[in-house]
Amino acid sequence: MDQNAKKKAVAEAAVKYIKADTIVGVGTGSTVNFFIDALAEIKHTIVGAVSSSDASTERLKAHGIEVFSLNEVDALDVYVDGADEITEHKHMIKGGGAALTREKIVAAVAKTFVCIVDDSKQVPVLGNFPLPVEVIPMARSYVARELVKLGGDPVYREGVITDNGNVILDVHNLSIVNPRELETTINGLVGVVTNGIFANRGADVVLVATENGVLTLD
Ligand code: A5P
Repeated sequence: MDQNAKKKAVAEAAVKYIKADTIVGVGTGSTVNFFIDALAEIKHTIVGAVSSSDASTERLKAHGIEVFSLNEVDALDVYVDGADEITEHKHMIKGGGAALTREKIVAAVAKTFVCIVDDSKQVPVLGNFPLPVEVIPMARSYVARELVKLGGDPVYREGVITDNGNVILDVHNLSIVNPRELETTINGLVGVVTNGIFANRGADVVLVATENGVLTLD
């Protein structure tokens, strides 16, 4: 099975977590794109969606799914999103698509975070995938120097502006043995909006597409 077939399979498996008459939290990325397509098949049963990026909003709307502002909703039952890396503890690196901040906000509101990945994303320790950090543009050089002090090698993602008007530093060569602590430390740097470690609020359910079908880790 190729990687796209795995992404589609795991995205379709996530649909069973969606309850009727609810607003669905929707992440960002190529795996989530398959989920949005699958959600379109049951769109008559849901109220609509809250989206974590302009790209996902556009795809949801193209399918005729109503998109609500997060400020319009009191609660979200389920948030479905992919990841760039995930451990057995359901800690993740996210933000390969630069949508990490809005993803973290929508995930914080949701009761259940359902993470959808193929088995290439499973790792013993986070950090092989460069850690995305969203930074206020004027703080880029300062934050980069501080990230070097933490042992990383930050690289400016040139040409990318986030949906929030900020820039991304991708931090290479981190071995993230204590993800909760590093998530908090980096978020404490002045000028950082957020970083792509999702550990203090990790996933609740992980669906993993493998050659032998979709596995559920909960
Ligand atoms: C977007 O910013 C990311 O957090 C994505 O959720 C993550 O990069 C996974 O994307 P893919 O499903 O495209 O691998």
